[in-house]
Amino acid sequence: MSEPRALAKAEALSLGPPGWKHACHALLYAPNPGRLFGKIPLRFAVLMQMRFDGRLGFPGGFVDPRDISLEEGLNRELCEELGPAAASFRLAEEDYVSSHVSEQPQRVVMHFYAKQISLEELRVVEEGATQAKDHGFEVMGLIRVPLYILRDGIGGLPAFLSNAFIGNAREQLIHALDTLQLMPTEQLRKAVKIAQK
Ligand code: APR
Ligand code: MG
Ligand code: MG
Repeated sequence: MSEPRALAKAEALSLGPPGWKHACHALLYAPNPGRLFGKIPLRFAVLMQMRFDGRLGFPGGFVDPRDISLEEGLNRELCEELGPAAASFRLAEEDYVSSHVSEQPQRVVMHFYAKQISLEELRVVEEGATQAKDHGFEVMGLIRVPLYILRDGIGGLPAFLSNAFIGNAREQLIHALDTLQLMPTEQLRKAVKIAQK
């Protein structure tokens, strides 16, 4: 797969059918005061999913012609993949983060969104996830991203980043953790470096 290229939203929107398909994915996160083993701060609960293709990705998917906007398509995909509780919050234009294009294996314009919800809302999504239309089909399960590095220097985020990710989901995750300040920049850099070894 060729490296996805970043581009401005206006330019991204000018790429239309039949040549280009558009997909939207979202990072949902909630402040999390909990501590692992009563010690290690969890910082935030960040939702990702194990996909049907064995890779990790964010919930979301292709926007189709019956969707009147990107956000409409995103909210529809979130309901299909996360279940009924996803209808309690809607992602809007203000939650938009970035767009990328990828030409291989097909021409796709990928839009990324991020939204903060409460830990309670996130828990309700997790609890209802098995009722989602796509559960057991496109979605094999929801997961939370570990935002710490364990004492062995690998466990936690470095090991998590060593998994296989769909599209540019790994880059989207790292970029969002940094810009939304979901963990200290130094620790994030360290985790990325360890994962590269
Ligand atoms: N997470 C997931 N996919 C991403 C991400 C991301 N963070 N970033 C980019 N993509 C790209 C992938 O290349 C992916 O194949 O967007 C494409 C579409 O996203 P999916 O979530 O796979 O699409 P969805 O509409 O949910 O459908 C799932 O069903 O119709 C089939 O083959 C089709 O892959 C599609 C599958
Ligand atoms: Mg889908
Ligand atoms: Mg999907």
